[in-house]
Amino acid sequence: MAPTAPYVQSLSGSRDRLRRPAVPVALGAHGPLGPYAAYRDLRSAGPIHWDEAAFNGAWVLTTFDGVQSALKDPRLSAHRTAGWILRRELRASGSGARLSDMQRLFSRALLFADKPRHPQLRALMSAPFQPAGLAAMQRAIVEITAELLDDIDRRTAADATFDFIDAFAKHLPLRVIGKLLGVSVEASDELLASSIDVAGFLGSLSPTQDEASTAAEGMLTLAEHLECVIAQRRFDDQGLVAALLRHHEAGRLESFEELLSQAVMMLFAGLETTRHFLGTGLYWLLQEADRLAIAHAPQRLATAVRELLRWDSPVQYTARRATCAFQLHGVDIQRGDLVLPLLGAANRDPGRYADAESLELGRQVGMPISFGAGPHFCMGAQLTLLEAEHAFSACLKRWPQLQVAAEPVWLSSPLYRGMKSLHLSRGAMSYNCSNS
Ligand code: HEM
Repeated sequence: MAPTAPYVQSLSGSRDRLRRPAVPVALGAHGPLGPYAAYRDLRSAGPIHWDEAAFNGAWVLTTFDGVQSALKDPRLSAHRTAGWILRRELRASGSGARLSDMQRLFSRALLFADKPRHPQLRALMSAPFQPAGLAAMQRAIVEITAELLDDIDRRTAADATFDFIDAFAKHLPLRVIGKLLGVSVEASDELLASSIDVAGFLGSLSPTQDEASTAAEGMLTLAEHLECVIAQRRFDDQGLVAALLRHHEAGRLESFEELLSQAVMMLFAGLETTRHFLGTGLYWLLQEADRLAIAHAPQRLATAVRELLRWDSPVQYTARRATCAFQLHGVDIQRGDLVLPLLGAANRDPGRYADAESLELGRQVGMPISFGAGPHFCMGAQLTLLEAEHAFSACLKRWPQLQVAAEPVWLSSPLYRGMKSLHLSRGAMSYNCSNS
């Protein structure tokens, strides 16, 4: 039988070499303190380490400069899904065929494409992220936010607590991404559950077979939803799905599968990131004494949101695969090796940020590396900033006494920093503010 991932399998010899980390790598510590103390130890021990436990072995990069230059390095390919999704231990399992379907869908998405296809796909998908598209999205964000906050006020007594993740953070990004794609997200619970299943698998360093097959089902549910929407032409002419369909009809997309890959990946990318940041960002903002003043000053808020992204990066790492043998920070990288740039560690690098281990909402971070760098820099970065800035200011303007009512329940994923629940209280003085 032909190997499922001949490229990676042909390289397996490179794993036989002994590569002992100077310090044990501990991806994935959670709770309010997160993995940052472990990152600090790792970074002090050097810019690169071998982690035997991650994805059957991977190099982790710990410094800002190292992470940034890796993301721009053409020797490191974004085309990495074969060894990552179709991990050796899962290939032979009953879920192997479903995982292959999932991997095929993922592998065609622009996030996992290299030149020359990557810039072509990116150009085909750029319209909603241009100024006119973003202005339309901004209007949608304002509307959806007001509806969700009204809903919270309607459903819960002013002196009762509510779970911000369940009532707000998971809905805003889904409805915004639905608007961007131009598709209905009425089956939102199912879509969210599917997306969470996929994220659970992708975020696991050594997933079980159950996690793998649940994730494959989840991925196919997302794809099926979009395929039905397209088949029944239930989409808005102004949305990204309609634009992709026009590109497909004009022959600019290679196949329907390539179209579906882009749409599914966009849905997933827009959801499994922003919903985490809305929770963690608001949580940390609520710890600050001058949060109300910040919420009322757009420029200060914009600066604060970028610092919040630096402080607790919603995506902790990404991955690349070496296309050739070369030396990186003095170690031998073999063709086929997996390299994990730790975005969360880069964000706390004292070589880049003075007093990196403290949250300073007035710090001028610029665009944080939480959105990546180089050719795959996040397409949704501006949209995320719009969502978070508006959501945080709308919540604090509407509920000036908003506060954390109980310690949140944090996710235990090494990939995503986020919360399962965040209970907030609005205080006795909850009132309606017309501009939220
Ligand atoms: C807190 C929110 C977000 C974070 C932290 C985030 C993070 C990232 C990161 C780190 C990458 C680069 C990955 C790599 O280089 O391997 C990326 C790429 C991407 N993101 Fe985001 N993202 C967020 C929100 C969004 C949203 C809302 C959308 C869609 C509306 C989106 C769409 C994309 C797309 C399409 C790419 C692939 C770009 C390419 O390959 O050229 N992201 N994101």
